[in-house]
Amino acid sequence: GSESSIGLRVSRYRPESDPGPGWQEYDVPLRTEWTVLDALNHVKNELDPTLSFRWSCRMGICGSCGMNVDGEPRLTCGTFLVDHAPGPIRVEPLANFHVVRDLVIDMTDFMEKLPRVKPWIIRDEEQSVDDGEYLQTPEELDAYKQFSMCINCMLCYAACPVYGLDPDFIGPAAIALAERYDLDSRDRGARERLDVLIEHEGVWGCTFVGECTRVCPKHVDPAGAIQRYKLKAAKQSVMAVLLPRGAR
Ligand code: FES
Repeated sequence: GSESSIGLRVSRYRPESDPGPGWQEYDVPLRTEWTVLDALNHVKNELDPTLSFRWSCRMGICGSCGMNVDGEPRLTCGTFLVDHAPGPIRVEPLANFHVVRDLVIDMTDFMEKLPRVKPWIIRDEEQSVDDGEYLQTPEELDAYKQFSMCINCMLCYAACPVYGLDPDFIGPAAIALAERYDLDSRDRGARERLDVLIEHEGVWGCTFVGECTRVCPKHVDPAGAIQRYKLKAAKQSVMAVLLPRGAR
């Protein structure tokens, strides 16, 4: 037919047979409405059923389709082929993670980091369920709403050179998640979270590269959260020097 096509250079790795990752190139139709994820599904359904990758919603909600596209961490369901023409388009697993197979990375480290910031509402000890619902005004909701938009896609970890060098760094999404709860009017856990984040793998690991905020598909701004925590931590240590224990 007259339909044009584009090359998809995909990183392949099958632990049972490959010594390490290698490239495989596929020719896929260059359709205006096709995303990189559509092209990968075309490969899987029509050309090569052995290709492995994660996806689910196809609408930027589930966060499972993150990959490096032409070297940039992207949600493949929101990345159009035409924006990468004439190709070939390089598709690789997210950087800074162990590769399980082809484009699938191991999420274990990320999943273990999130709970460290206590991502739940820590109530006032005096509060009891008998006091009724915890109501919030629209303004109080607005205070943290943007930080609740994170879809755990891990693009920020793939973009973060600090995490790349030091996997112990708690990382951008976890810090943004901490701020999401700190900014919640129902929460009283800010002190506890700050204690976690001022440990050496916490906010001080960040050298303010800002790549996390740049690649975030949901405009969450982890870099801003990190800066605010550094300020809070600095204030707390100044107070510790100036004020006797009881007065803090
Ligand atoms: Fe769900 Fe892309 S498939 S975010």
